[in-house]
Amino acid sequence: MKKIGIIGSGIVAKTLGAGFISHGYEVMLGTRDETKLSDWLAKEGEQAKVGSFNKVASFGDILVLAVKGTAAIAAIELIDSNLLSGKIIIDATNPIADAAPENGVLQFFTDQNGSLMEKLQSTFPEVNFVKAFSSVGSASMVNPSFESKPSMFICGNDETAKAKVANIVELFGWEVEDMGGAEAARAIEPLCMLWCIPGFTKNQWTHAFKLLK
Ligand SMILES: NC(=O)c1ccc[n+]([C@@H]2O[C@H](COP(=O)([O-])OP(=O)(O)OC[C@H]3O[C@@H](n4cnc5c(N)ncnc54)[C@H](OP(=O)(O)O)[C@@H]3O)[C@@H](O)[C@H]2O)c1
Repeated sequence: MKKIGIIGSGIVAKTLGAGFISHGYEVMLGTRDETKLSDWLAKEGEQAKVGSFNKVASFGDILVLAVKGTAAIAAIELIDSNLLSGKIIIDATNPIADAAPENGVLQFFTDQNGSLMEKLQSTFPEVNFVKAFSSVGSASMVNPSFESKPSMFICGNDETAKAKVANIVELFGWEVEDMGGAEAARAIEPLCMLWCIPGFTKNQWTHAFKLLK
C-alpha cells in the first residue's frame, strides 16, 4: 500500500490525511504532541497513524507539509536531513504573517518577488517541493463539489515530482494547472489572500478557482 506522511496536525493535515485514506493510502500525521491527534486516529481507523516529524518523514513515500507558514522551515529542520534526501514534499503552506488581515486582506511575511516555497526549496535543496492545495479551503480539498472541476495550481522544479503530485491532485477531483518552476509560487501563494477575502468580508468560504480556457 502507498504511504503518505503528513507534517502537520491541523485541519489541512487531518483533511488531506482522511482524503488519502479514502483513496486507498496509508497515512501518518506528524506532530510535536501526539495526544492532540487521538480523536483523528480513532476516527480514521487502521490506515491512520500518528508520529513525530522524523517518523513521518521515514514513513512516507511522499510527504505533505501542512504547518503554520511561519513555522514551515523550523518544522522541516526538526527532521533528520538524511530522511529527506530525494523526497517529494507537497507544500500546502502559505506565508501568512501573525498580523491581522487588513480589510479582509491577509498579510504575508514574503514580498511579491519571492515566496515561501522558494525559501523552502533553497533551504532544503535535497527535497523536491511541489506547491499544491494552498489556495482552497480545507473543506473543498478532497472531492470538491462544484458544477465543473475546479483548477489546482501547482508548481515546482522537478518534473517527475510534479507528475506524481499531479496524479494525486487529479485523484482528489481537481483539474491540474502546472504553472512551472518554484518561482510560480510567487503567484500561487497570494491566491490564498484572494480566496480568503470573501470569507473575511462576506463570510463566504466555499468557492474555488477555475482557469477558463
Ligand atoms: N486552513 C485551511 O483551510 C488552509 C487552506 C489552504 C492552505 N492552508 C495552509 O496550510 C497550512 C496548515 O494550516 P492549518 O490551518 O491546518 O494549521 P495551522 O494552525 O496553520 O498549523 C498547525 C500546525 O503547525 C505546526 N506548528 C506550529 N508552530 C510550529 C513550530 N514552531 N514548529 C513546528 N511546527 C509548528 C503545528 O505542529 P504541532 O502539531 O507540533 O503543534 C501544527 O501541525 C498553513 O500554512 C495554511 O496557510 C490552510
